[in-house]
Amino acid sequence: MSRLRVGVVGLGVISRFYLAALQNRADMRLVAACDLREEALVGLDPDVRRYLGHEEMFAAGELDAVIVNVPNDLHAAVCRAALEAGIAVCVEKPLATVPKDAHELQRLAEKTGVALFTAFHRRYNSNVLAILPTAADRDAVESVTVRYLERIEEHVGGDRWYLDPARCGGGCVADNGPNAFDLLRLLLGEVRVTASSIVYDDLGIDRKADITLSSPSGTTATVELDWSYPHGEAKDVTIRYSDGRERHADMLAGYPEFKSSLSHEYAAVLDDFAAAVRAGRADSGGVAALDLVAAAYDLAAEPGRVPAVVEESGLKRTVRSEVVKVLKHRREDRGMVLEPFASRCVRQGEIHELVTTDQRTAGAGDLVDRVGFLGFTEITRAGVLDAGDTVLVDGRPIGRILGFDACHFPNHYNVLIAVDRLVTGPEIGLAPGTDVAFSPARKETEP
Ligand SMILES: NC(=O)c1ccc[n+]([C@@H]2O[C@H](COP(=O)([O-])OP(=O)(O)OC[C@H]3O[C@@H](n4cnc5c(N)ncnc54)[C@H](O)[C@@H]3O)[C@@H](O)[C@H]2O)c1
Repeated sequence: MSRLRVGVVGLGVISRFYLAALQNRADMRLVAACDLREEALVGLDPDVRRYLGHEEMFAAGELDAVIVNVPNDLHAAVCRAALEAGIAVCVEKPLATVPKDAHELQRLAEKTGVALFTAFHRRYNSNVLAILPTAADRDAVESVTVRYLERIEEHVGGDRWYLDPARCGGGCVADNGPNAFDLLRLLLGEVRVTASSIVYDDLGIDRKADITLSSPSGTTATVELDWSYPHGEAKDVTIRYSDGRERHADMLAGYPEFKSSLSHEYAAVLDDFAAAVRAGRADSGGVAALDLVAAAYDLAAEPGRVPAVVEESGLKRTVRSEVVKVLKHRREDRGMVLEPFASRCVRQGEIHELVTTDQRTAGAGDLVDRVGFLGFTEITRAGVLDAGDTVLVDGRPIGRILGFDACHFPNHYNVLIAVDRLVTGPEIGLAPGTDVAFSPARKETEP
């Protein structure tokens, strides 16, 4: 097989580990690179073609494969463009910032037969590999803990996109969660989130999270994430066995320089990517990791007051909708009145208004004065809205349904959403077409 002609999109912190690993490969050759910062292109080998945008680089037709290293919110668009151009993709985690995009990318890769590979560098960490359970030991694993603790300010470069929830995907759960979840999938196979608690800062960034998961055979797992850790970095895995044995892997042990463990990990990332290209594999776990991220956000959404009717209800599916008009005003004297019912059936095609409130009131007839308007949304998947449901905007929870106001009914309901801080549509990035889901307070049954 001839050497793969590889391009790189994004020449920031992590790209240097890819560039170093590429130099040692007989099966790959760096032929092009792109970054919107011209100065990032300085210093590349003279025979590497340079671009300021990925579109132009892909259109040149000189690539077999591309490595995508841009901020998280750009992954989906760059990956889509590459797959459409028939270029195999190695993308940094997370594959996307919302599960919908990740699933679409996987479908596109399957349809086109072009490899789509998400890089989870920690699965190649030498200390982790040293404690992988043998086949005989695997059934005896009782629990696993993965810790990913750091102070994110020590990791941001000139562009502080990590500290913008819309660009990084939310915070520590969206950014570090995928690596931690991928390690659990390496150790335990498929896992699901059973409990989650997340601490947000004033900017809405999740800075700390404790997430509990379990495997189908009942092994439990804990993921601890922290972006405000005051003691440097701690990234480790602990496996406990039913006979009392415990194996611990400190992912940074033996790699004293800042980020120095990454060199050997990214060399192995490229080994696996090369295998994925040869096999035309559609995904390496990026979709699964993102589904776990979404489940962690979903289960952690602030519980608020959940009326009795929800406590008594059974399972139900998620209701989905699409924003048709954004609103951007607030009121301190709106005088909405909570209806006596805590549930409303909503049909496909209906349009309802979404309104946030920071008032902690949930009784029939209660006045709701302090409101921030989000916009109007069209129901695309019918169902039942219940007080207590989590409201997710592009997969990210923003609050829970407090109740319904019927002052505009039968034209539409005002769906009141309990939040800590009043927000309007533009403040949470709403735009026509944004996906808004209403997810049950309990585990959902959506296929
Ligand atoms: N830094 C780490 O330790 C680390 C570890 C694992 C994974 N990652 C992942 O690697 C990716 C990159 O992270 P980073 O820390 O290297 O970020 P970074 O900010 O250092 O680098 C991003 C680069 O992308 C460039 N860029 C931004 N928009 C662009 C565009 N539209 N077209 C071309 N270039 C563009 C920026 O100019 C910058 O050079 C992220 O997905 C991150 O989650 C980072």
